[in-house]
Amino acid sequence: MVRKKISVIGAGNVGATVAQFLAMKELGDVYLFDVVDGVPEGKALDILEGLPHWGADVMVKGFTTVNPEAYKNLENSDVVVITAGLARKPGMSRDDLLNKNLEIMSDVARNVKKYSPNSKVVIVSNPADIMAYAFQKVSGMKPESIIGLGGSLDSARFRTFLAEELHVSVEDVNAFVIGGHGDDMVPFIRYSNVAGIPISNLLSKEKIEEIVKRTRFGGGEIVNYLKTGSAYYAPGISITAMVESIIKGKERIIPCAAYISGEHSKHYGIKNLFIGVPIRIGENCVEQIYDIDFSNEEKALWDKTVESVTASCAKVDEFLKSSH
Ligand code: NAI
Ligand code: 2OP
Repeated sequence: MVRKKISVIGAGNVGATVAQFLAMKELGDVYLFDVVDGVPEGKALDILEGLPHWGADVMVKGFTTVNPEAYKNLENSDVVVITAGLARKPGMSRDDLLNKNLEIMSDVARNVKKYSPNSKVVIVSNPADIMAYAFQKVSGMKPESIIGLGGSLDSARFRTFLAEELHVSVEDVNAFVIGGHGDDMVPFIRYSNVAGIPISNLLSKEKIEEIVKRTRFGGGEIVNYLKTGSAYYAPGISITAMVESIIKGKERIIPCAAYISGEHSKHYGIKNLFIGVPIRIGENCVEQIYDIDFSNEEKALWDKTVESVTASCAKVDEFLKSSH
């Protein structure tokens, strides 16, 4: 059997962590790319040398993209994960990263399109919904083949905090977070439950609000501890779940930033944007988008996150117009 090929662009904290998880799960050969000379080669070799103990038979290789020709090694990737870009420092919002990461994303998008136009793409660089939009605009690749990290991670955080509070297994907690991967993301209370029991039956309104708030600022909580960067272990696992569902055609339902158009536009009240919604992930990447019904209160929260994603996408349009 021919092994799958997964390319990870950006070999920093998230890129290297996800590369190791992907290799340990034997999801495919992992190709790691970064612009800093020697870093992808060194990290790839280090990951590879640990695999004999783990018993995983995959190749892990690194490529420095100082010479852009190195991107040729993206050829025939089944999945490309993009983590290249700056990470948050204390006091920075994900949107502060926008302009710097837009330049990086544009360059990466052109290379992915050139060398691996049929790959499925997972966008991680922040702000991820906006970067997914920019990636699609620059690459022109099929919108259904592109997803962005947000809800997969934010839902894992929401589940963690709920399980901790209720002293139950995280496995029995179902919860999801939709909307943009920003501070106004929408942890969805009504559809969150513990083994089918709605969380509103188990926790007071105040406690739920506290957990919702902690989820919204979950990324910031880690940044404040680390001081020099942002989270990477939970993001690494959250990305791995998304990639695994593509590679194995698992059809998992995970909230991710996906392209909203057609009938979903009407339902969600937005058009031609990437934003976090529950999707079924399979070999074609986005296999299905689920429409969620909103109460008036939920709709107000939804409209707020849509507004901020829309405003940032308008900045992408300006950026792309001025860089032509
Ligand atoms: P990091 O700083 O550790 O790594 C970023 C890497 O990108 C560095 O090694 C850097 O050399 C590389 N890079 C910069 N420009 C490049 C280019 N043109 N080509 C190739 N590589 C390039 O940062 P970390 O922690 O790995 O985070 C990466 C990105 O992912 C950040 O934007 C961060 O905000 C985002 N992130 C998003 C999450 C989400 O839920 N969407 C979760 C965690 C991180
Ligand atoms: C997070 O939520 C930094 O977006 C990243 O941890």
